[in-house]
Amino acid sequence: MAVADDHCNLTVGAADNMQYDVKEMSAPASCESITVTLNHNGQFPKNAMGHNWVLTTDADFKAVAMDGGSAGLKNNYIKEGDTRVIAATDIIGGGETSSVTFSTAGLTAGTTYTYFCSFPGHWGIMKGTFTLS
Ligand code: CU
Repeated sequence: MAVADDHCNLTVGAADNMQYDVKEMSAPASCESITVTLNHNGQFPKNAMGHNWVLTTDADFKAVAMDGGSAGLKNNYIKEGDTRVIAATDIIGGGETSSVTFSTAGLTAGTTYTYFCSFPGHWGIMKGTFTLS
């Protein structure tokens, strides 16, 4: 059993200002899996200022975000069965936390990926760059 590596556990925050507190995230390629924990440090409920953390390729980002907008809160604003989504947390509101663990098997070191919030209207500015280093 592998020893847990703290570098494979990443944390990102967001609040009612509709911004992630980090614009770049990375983890070593030696991580077999990565866990991302999203903390919503705001106060508004998820139906008003919900946030999630969704990872896709740079190329898929916009289409996934637009398709997600019509998927509704009950689907965490992600199209059902969307295979372009590499990883995604649930949509959360103020004071809540959501984590996702995903395998790095399908990811390429050195390539940049995009993470974003798929809540309607957020993804234009609420996004960042993820790399396996
Ligand atoms: Cu958001």
